[in-house]
Amino acid sequence: MSTHTGPTAADRLLRLLYDRREGFVSMVELAAAAGAPQATVTKALAALRRKGQRLDVSPQGVRLQRPAALDAGLIEQDLGTQRVGRNVICFGEVSSTNDVARHSARQKNADGLAVLAESQRHGRGRLGRRWASPPRSGVLMSVLLIDGANLAHEAVTIAAGLAVAEGIDDIADLSCRLKWPNDVLADGKKIAGILVELSTCPAGRAVVIGIGINVHAAPPPSRLAHPATSLAEQTGLIVERIDVIRAVLRRLDAWVGRIQAGRLEELRNAWLARCGMMNQRITVQVGGRRYAGRVMDIDPLEGVILCGDHGERLHLPAETSTILD
Ligand code: BTN
Repeated sequence: MSTHTGPTAADRLLRLLYDRREGFVSMVELAAAAGAPQATVTKALAALRRKGQRLDVSPQGVRLQRPAALDAGLIEQDLGTQRVGRNVICFGEVSSTNDVARHSARQKNADGLAVLAESQRHGRGRLGRRWASPPRSGVLMSVLLIDGANLAHEAVTIAAGLAVAEGIDDIADLSCRLKWPNDVLADGKKIAGILVELSTCPAGRAVVIGIGINVHAAPPPSRLAHPATSLAEQTGLIVERIDVIRAVLRRLDAWVGRIQAGRLEELRNAWLARCGMMNQRITVQVGGRRYAGRVMDIDPLEGVILCGDHGERLHLPAETSTILD
């Protein structure tokens, strides 16, 4: 979590180096940004290195190596959200960011916390699957919502996919599509996945929205049932995870606000606009059972609505259903 006592010299230097990441920043400029002599700048640069940033130093000055390491201060800076990302905390390695977020629900003012990690030992996917991501290669983030006002978590589950698709498009313009309930696809391949988990906490119910986005690399194909891709593969560029995270937090904050305000029709319409499933025949697994039918509608509270082979209407909830084909 960044300090709320004001930015340190290292924070100020990192902001400048991040904003100017395409080139070198001279020591004179760095000293002016830090408001301190060069000796302090040297110490602050050492502190940034200890926090995982890689720096090139040359006679022209200092340059931040790309991609940058995660940094809570850079993520929080001028984020402008109401609820989501009010506090951000970044770790090197954790077991699962969803577990860290769930445990944080016991603390005061935890609502809106975003937990990030460079790597996970036991990243979880939906339906008991594993979520593998090489260290520093992706966004591994969990957003915690303390649900005092009975936020419809069914709606949050599908809004999360939408927010991630929108956030990626804000940064990389990939025209991301959605696959029920919340897989995010680029070029027909999975680029991000979401795992929403519920638990109880002293303040009521904790909703943890776990988000995994393949940024610099996708997991090796052998591990996957379906093809995966990454922002790097799709754009051919180094896309900074920090930019993607900020865009997703902003989009998610906006959707959480709309859900709180009961604006579910907007969620349905935005979701449908990104889903290629309408009127298509799909097979969905719910628990141990399979259902086949034509997609009739998406309801943010009730799930995907299918017309079964005998004309019956099937409501398949987001949390427990997954599309097989
Ligand atoms: C899926 O598509 O199956 C969902 C994947 C969700 C992965 C994210 S990574 C951050 C958070 N922590 C976890 O252990 N899982 C989620």
